[in-house]
Amino acid sequence: ENTVKIGLMGLGTVGTGVVRIVQGHQEDLQKQTGLAIEIAKVLVKNAEKERNISLDDDILTTDPADLVENPDIDVIVEVIGGINPTKQYMLQALENGKHIVTANKDLMALHGAEILSKAQEKGCDVFYEASVGGGIPILRALVEGFSSDRITKMMGIVNGTTNYIMTKMSKEGADYAEVLKEAQELGYAESDPTADVEGHDAARKMAILGTLGFHVDMNLDDVDCEGISRVSAEDIAHAKQLGYEIKLLGIAQRDGELIDVSVQPTLVARSHPLASVNGVFNAVYVHGEAVGETMFYGPGAGELPTATAVVSDLVTVVKNKKLGVNGRGSVAPYKEKHLKTDDQ
Ligand code: NDP
Ligand code: HSE
Repeated sequence: ENTVKIGLMGLGTVGTGVVRIVQGHQEDLQKQTGLAIEIAKVLVKNAEKERNISLDDDILTTDPADLVENPDIDVIVEVIGGINPTKQYMLQALENGKHIVTANKDLMALHGAEILSKAQEKGCDVFYEASVGGGIPILRALVEGFSSDRITKMMGIVNGTTNYIMTKMSKEGADYAEVLKEAQELGYAESDPTADVEGHDAARKMAILGTLGFHVDMNLDDVDCEGISRVSAEDIAHAKQLGYEIKLLGIAQRDGELIDVSVQPTLVARSHPLASVNGVFNAVYVHGEAVGETMFYGPGAGELPTATAVVSDLVTVVKNKKLGVNGRGSVAPYKEKHLKTDDQ
């Protein structure tokens, strides 16, 4: 009764970080929530794999039913990634009244409205802070911090892998393929890194920012997207000579009811703060009509930074449980479609 049981889906880079933080910060988490958090089951693909984290033998499973149909489990933390089979697991979990914390931008950008509608129907929480900006609490800032304002523009670096690659190419003359491999080894890249280098990951994140910042149902197809795969070492060197860095920038802006969202490699003058955002770091400018310009900066990927966002969401779910207000704190799906500037 004084313990909240978690079903963790995925024990890779982020899942391992979640276990470390839940175990390592147990006392602090309990002080804040009034309840103990226990990782009761962990779903993996390969139970035989050697892991660099110790868990009791009976915790690991390859059967999703051990989590989604387990009456003891209150919250599912999904850090597998991708649409299949995770969408099905999430919908089953919600059907069974379980709250969800996820880092899955693919799923939330493409099927967020469906997931959130199901959550609303079932009175469940769904939080997904880690889906954008890694350890930067940017979604909370949009949903809570700026709820009073009218946001007009969000612009920044939202993919750690490509920023890591571009930084190493610019500062050290590193080879694209080698530094991409390094980013994969560090756990920054998506399981298929095409999503990073072709800008799809950044596009999904910009669609999430657009939805939450502008309060509309963004369609991912409306995000104009170009990645870094066609940026050469020569392009980077020429840009440097002229006083610029090339950065993969996401820009979401609105003018009246018209919204335009894009991701593309962009020349950024060396004097601009975004030119100094290096390595795996992300940074997002948020402009509001009332607040003016704000900037959010921090590690955009990696085990522990990403896991802080996941576990903070978990703390919110557990606090809501203690207060008996689950299902009221998550963002409802926005119904209104947006008008894209190009359609004019
Ligand atoms: P990993 O590839 O490191 O880990 C994926 C985990 O999911 C593994 O434990 C794997 O099992 C398990 N898994 C994969 N497929 C299945 C399946 N069909 N059934 C059950 N388990 C499965 O991914 P990450 O930790 O890097 O990323 C997880 C999520 O977090 C993704 O949505 C990603 O986009 C997001 N994210 C990642 C960040 C990062 O820095 N890495 C930052 C922000 C978000 P096994 O271990 O047995 O192979
Ligand atoms: N692959 C992603 C990135 C992980 O590099 O930004 C964080 O969302």
